[in-house]
Amino acid sequence: MNFNFDPNFVDNLYEFKKKAYKEHKLCSLFFEVTSRCNARCEHCGSSCGDFIPKDEITKEEMIGVLDDLAEHYDPTRIMLNITGGEPLVKKDLFEIMDHANKLGFPWGMTTNGFLVDEKVVKKMEETNMKTVSVSIDGPKELHESFRKVPGGWDKLVKGIKLMQKCPTIIDLQVTTCVNKKNIDLLEDIYQVILDLGVDDWRLIEVDPIGRAKGNDELLLDGNDYKRMLEFIFKKRKENPNIRFKYGCGHFLGNDLDIALMGQCYFCFTGYWAASVLSNGDVFGCPDIERRPELIQGNIRDRKFSDIWENEFKLYRKIDRTSNKKCKSCDDWKSCLGDAFHTWDWDENKPNFCVRELFKEDYDKRDALVEKYLKTMERLRKEEKAKKGVKNKKNKL
Ligand SMILES: C[S@@+](CC[C@H](N)C(=O)[O-])C[C@H]1O[C@@H](n2cnc3c(N)ncnc32)[C@H](O)[C@@H]1O
Ligand code: SF4
Ligand code: SF4
Repeated sequence: MNFNFDPNFVDNLYEFKKKAYKEHKLCSLFFEVTSRCNARCEHCGSSCGDFIPKDEITKEEMIGVLDDLAEHYDPTRIMLNITGGEPLVKKDLFEIMDHANKLGFPWGMTTNGFLVDEKVVKKMEETNMKTVSVSIDGPKELHESFRKVPGGWDKLVKGIKLMQKCPTIIDLQVTTCVNKKNIDLLEDIYQVILDLGVDDWRLIEVDPIGRAKGNDELLLDGNDYKRMLEFIFKKRKENPNIRFKYGCGHFLGNDLDIALMGQCYFCFTGYWAASVLSNGDVFGCPDIERRPELIQGNIRDRKFSDIWENEFKLYRKIDRTSNKKCKSCDDWKSCLGDAFHTWDWDENKPNFCVRELFKEDYDKRDALVEKYLKTMERLRKEEKAKKGVKNKKNKL
């Protein structure tokens, strides 16, 4: 095994998490600016487009939240993640983001990309948008049929090309929601990523929420998860020029998490991350099942800062996701019962458990990690050697 963890590593990590839960410093705020959408994706976790919302958060209300945040915290340290529905259907979005930028918030957006044109990119630049994540769930035909946007592909590709030229965007990421319909097409999607010249590709698995809940035609089984993880490993080895990411995701074991993500697994929700939903509800991350008991308040009744400081008690308990089985598990201190977004609230158990996924292979994962690290080391050496030759030539 290549990881020489300090013998106190797990205890230190556990103490660090306890402190983070207690201190609850907001670093990431998801703003679900609308639940309206120009697409009707089969997997949509927020079932967007199925209803016309009457209580959508207004420009003035959003500005009120931003002013409140800037008054109580350092805005330069809070990343605003604009999401939806489709954020670009909100008419006054860029007026709001202009205000956010002037207050000093860094900000980014998740978009389906179908509405991105020259005018929109100009506004992104003017309001200093820093990051964007564009969803691509398949090659052209599958993507269009999955998202129910016939003819949308060419607009999406044009939008990506325009955003690649936008000087304020420091990271353009493609996010693929891996599901039963595209798990066999990951190589084809990889080709799309290469053709587009995208260097940041995040794969997430479909969560059993919204329209995906109970849909066996979409939800992955254990074998699919393994194939997805192996695919990420394989591609990382093949092409170090692309940042292949997995997650937010799940606890996979500290060794595998460090190898795959470059860090240990954390579910940030409720102590580092929160969201304001499109009806003004204050919540954890938007992907968590929207149960009434998890809503912490509404910005129409109370200031966001008041809710953040005084609520979220359930989210800030170190054993917030625990049960008898998890508490007695060898990985408890690192995993803490896995992620909030896949917690089964009715059965009080995780819907995802790495030990159940790998079963008897769980302790053999070391071999996979070891193989991966060796290849990465070799690639790094080769890269260094190449650079050395280049520098020598330049000097001559
Ligand atoms: C809710 S969408 C909002 C932004 C935009 N409309 C889009 O599709 O990119 C944000 C991301 O969540 C993903 N998503 C939607 N439903 C999901 C589910 N059931 N499980 C996991 N991710 C999901 C989408 O594919 C997208 O990448
Ligand atoms: S995943 Fe995004 S694009 Fe698809 S329906 Fe939901 S909000 Fe719209
Ligand atoms: S039983 Fe599974 S989900 Fe629970 S702590 Fe252990 S690894 Fe995590």
